[in-house]
Parts: sequence; structure tokens; C-alpha cells
Amino acid sequence: MVGRTNTVDRSVQLFRAFLKEQTDPDHFYGVLAADSVRQISEYVPLNGATILDVGGGPGYFADAFRAAGARYVGIDPDVGELSARGDLPAGMIRASGTELPIRTGSVDICYSSNVLEHVADPVRMLDEMVRVTRPGGTVFASFTPWFSPWGGHETAPWHFLGGRYARQRYIREKGHEPKNKFGESLFVLTIGKALRWARGTSDAVLVRALPRYHPWWATWIVRVPVLRELASWNLVLVLRKR
Ligand SMILES: C[S@@+](CC[C@H](N)C(=O)[O-])C[C@H]1O[C@@H](n2cnc3c(N)ncnc32)[C@H](O)[C@@H]1O
Repeated sequence: MVGRTNTVDRSVQLFRAFLKEQTDPDHFYGVLAADSVRQISEYVPLNGATILDVGGGPGYFADAFRAAGARYVGIDPDVGELSARGDLPAGMIRASGTELPIRTGSVDICYSSNVLEHVADPVRMLDEMVRVTRPGGTVFASFTPWFSPWGGHETAPWHFLGGRYARQRYIREKGHEPKNKFGESLFVLTIGKALRWARGTSDAVLVRALPRYHPWWATWIVRVPVLRELASWNLVLVLRKR
């Protein structure tokens, strides 16, 4: 049963915070981190758990996870992202999610928020997330599907006409590259592809696939091909390692 705490009020609060991402990132990431803690806690207790945050940037979620009692370690390959809030934060490792420098079966929870669409080989990163999770542990991965309204990130909605076109159009309009460059740091990832991986992997069982920001009663969207790509906004996969 998806948590009934996923209400319309919560969706509105998240959307309002998202609108302030550029002007007040601390507020946005604070709201998102608190929501992630609540959402993960529906599946697995955080208190005392070791959590690896793949693509955690400067550790936006570190405080919230630690406040919930988890031992938090973050990984990100980008020094600019790691130091986005000042000095390199404690507990962060510089590495890629596609080659995690972590022992097999060593973390209770492997978490990733809004990273898979920035990785050229997302299936490899998902396999790595499952590998480092202990048997019985939880993998929690979310991403923005390409065909969602925000799929092209700052080049949206032009990504619907193609990622290459959207990137060129952005350069023409703004006079500089977008932060998320199609083909370099932004790639096409669909819900269909993620679900095929989740149902096909032999090392973990898919517990839940749900639209991350939607109210609980809208979870059915994920079961409808085409509609789910357009209307989910963000997909969460929850898996249990065998
Ligand atoms: C949109 S940010 C998401 C940050 C944070 N997880 C959140 O949800 O707000 C995407 C992050 O993915 C990171 N990233 C890009 N490629 C990666 C890779 N191969 N492995 C791990 N992280 C990666 C970027 O450096 C960046 O910090």
C-alpha cells in the first residue's frame, strides 16, 4: 500500500518549492530531503541504517538522513557539484555511480535522486546500486523520464522535438549552453526502459514503482504505457535485494 501521506497538499508544497529552485535552492532541497526521508521510511527504517546516496551533489540530503538516524555517505563524480555549497562536505566521495568504489553487499539502503537521466549508461548504475546493497536491503532510485514535461530540464518543452534540437535552440536563445547538455550530461531514459530493467534483474525484486511527487491515488499512472511517460513527472523504483 502506497503511503496515504502522499496527499495533494504535499504535491502542491513540492511544486511550490520546485518553482524556487533557482532563487532559493536551500529551501527547495530542504523540502525535497524531508520528503525523501518520509517516503523512504514507508519502506525501510532509517534509524541505524547505512545509506549510500549516489549522485548526492554537495550532500543536499545528508542532514535530513542523519537527523533520521542514518549513517550517510554520498558519492558524486563532479567536484563542482560536490563543492556547490562551499568546502567539500564530510562523508562525500568523488566517484561515478557506474563504478561504485564500495564493497559488494555493504549498505542497507542505496539511494539515488534525479541522477539516472544524467548518466549515459543508467542500467549499469542501477546494477551497481543493487550490487553494493546487502541481501534484504533496499534500493530506492528516482529520475525524471525523458518524455515528462521537465524531461529536457531547462530546455523543456523543446525536448519533445528532440534533445539535440532543444539544446541548439537554448544556445541560440540564451547565448550559452544549458547546464544539462543533451548527449553529454542529459540522456533519454524512459519509464518503460527502467521497468524492463527492474522486472528483469535477477538480483533484486521490484517492490514498487510510483510517480514520486503525485498523490497516492495517482499511482496507477505508472501501469499505463505512453500515459506514464508523459504524466508521471518523476519515477521512483523501490527494490529489495535478494
Ligand atoms: C540534478 S542533480 C541531483 C542531486 C540530488 N541527488 C538531488 O536529488 O537533488 C544530478 C547529480 O548527478 C550527478 N551525476 C552525474 N553523473 C553521475 C554519475 N555517473 N554518477 C553519479 N552521479 C552523477 C551530478 O554531478 C549531480 O550532482
